[in-house]
Amino acid sequence: MAQSAGYHEDPELLSAALMDRHRAIVSIQEELEAVDWYDQRVEAASDPELKEVLAHNRDEEKEHAAMTLEWLRRKDPALDEQLRTYLFTSLPVTEVEDAAMDGPEGAGSPGAPASGPATDGSLGIGSLRGSEQ
Ligand SMILES: [Fe+2]
Repeated sequence: MAQSAGYHEDPELLSAALMDRHRAIVSIQEELEAVDWYDQRVEAASDPELKEVLAHNRDEEKEHAAMTLEWLRRKDPALDEQLRTYLFTSLPVTEVEDAAMDGPEGAGSPGAPASGPATDGSLGIGSLRGSEQ
């Protein structure tokens, strides 16, 4: 079990919603840890069929992690904002924030509201932002 699986505060002080987010975060940790372990086993295994089975299992863990991350994103507006800023762009990761700040919408910050598709030859940071949570 991940080291952070436990609470750092008295659970009596924590809301049910926070405890569910905690469960999701710990689950994501566990899924990604499993991906890492399977990755290592795939490389280390000598039998080709075993490698295929382990790779299949590893990729299912990625699905689990993605599903849980999506649930968490829907519950956490700040995380939603960061994921909308950084995911599914083709820019170098270290340039995404600057591009978002210089965006065509005059956003001024990466935390500005999502916009519609870019049609002006811009970097299109907003184009992949959905309108739903
Ligand atoms: Fe899993």
